[in-house]
This record gives sequence, C-alpha cells and structure tokens, in this order.
Amino acid sequence: MNQEIITKYQVFSNATDLIPEYQDLIIKARKNTFRAYAPYSKFFVGAVLLLDDGNIINGSNHENAAYPMCLCAEQVAIANFHTFRDKQNIKAIAITARTDNKVIDSPVPPCGACRQILLEVADKLHCDFEVILQGEVGPVYLIPNVKSLLPIQFNGTNL
Ligand code: THU
Repeated sequence: MNQEIITKYQVFSNATDLIPEYQDLIIKARKNTFRAYAPYSKFFVGAVLLLDDGNIINGSNHENAAYPMCLCAEQVAIANFHTFRDKQNIKAIAITARTDNKVIDSPVPPCGACRQILLEVADKLHCDFEVILQGEVGPVYLIPNVKSLLPIQFNGTNL
C-alpha cells in the first residue's frame, strides 16, 4: 500500500498581500532579529507568536561559543510562551532572519528541531496554528498548520 503526504501552503509574492495582522507580525519578527545574539553564525533569526487574545510573544536566536548550546528563535519564543502566557492558544508564528553578508530574499523555514518543538506545543494546546515565513524581502509562505510541517511525527503517543 502506498501512502502520500502533501503539504499545502500559500505563497504571497509580497508581504503587503497578507492581512494587516500578519503584515504586522512579520514586522515584529523582523524587530526581534535585532534582539538575537548570533556572533558566530551572524544569522539573526526573529520569531513572534500571535496569541488568541492578540498578545504577542517574542523570540530570537541565542548562540554560545559551545555551538550545540545555541537556542533557535522559535525555541526561545515557545519557552517564553510557557513562561509568561500559556493559558492562551497560539494563532500564528512568524519567522524571519537577516544576515550581514547578503539580503535574504527567500522564506526562512524552521529547522527540524524547531518543527518538533512547535508540534509539541500544538499538541499540548490541542490547537494547530499558522506559520508565516519570510526572508528580509521577497515572497511569504503561509503554512496553515504546524503539523503539516512534520509528517509522520514522533510525539507523546509514541511513548
Ligand atoms: N536558527 C534559528 O533560530 N531557527 C531555525 O529554525 C534555524 C536556525 C538559528 C540557529 C543559529 O543561531 C543560526 O540560526 C544559524 O543556524
């Protein structure tokens, strides 16, 4: 028996084609790239969570000379969510990045570990949420749910 998994997402050629709430979210994520601590990679990632009540939760990547200790922006945002506001549901996450040596003109996707972390919180909240990705300029990807980013997932039900 063959199985097929399809990830559906929308591509917007420009952020101005998004609803204003999501345009604003990308701007906030971009601001968070300036809160990143990334002296080694010089790849500054900003993430922001939009909650059901309209509040936002920030995250940025934090590196360390001991490289494996680096924290991704999404991971920091989710840790901040649990620390400060975890009674709310998450409506969306926006992720963006900038670097010193080029203009990032394609969407910056979350790494595999961050997908696992996003999946865990979606499972915990019993709610999936949208993922909005952009570089510094260029197209925006709008992925309707986190779970579709990590097919055939390992989660608590496997334990
Ligand atoms: N990074 C993130 O913050 N999120 C991701 O999903 C991918 C990578 C960070 C980790 C490291 O500080 C830098 O980007 C380069 O990998």
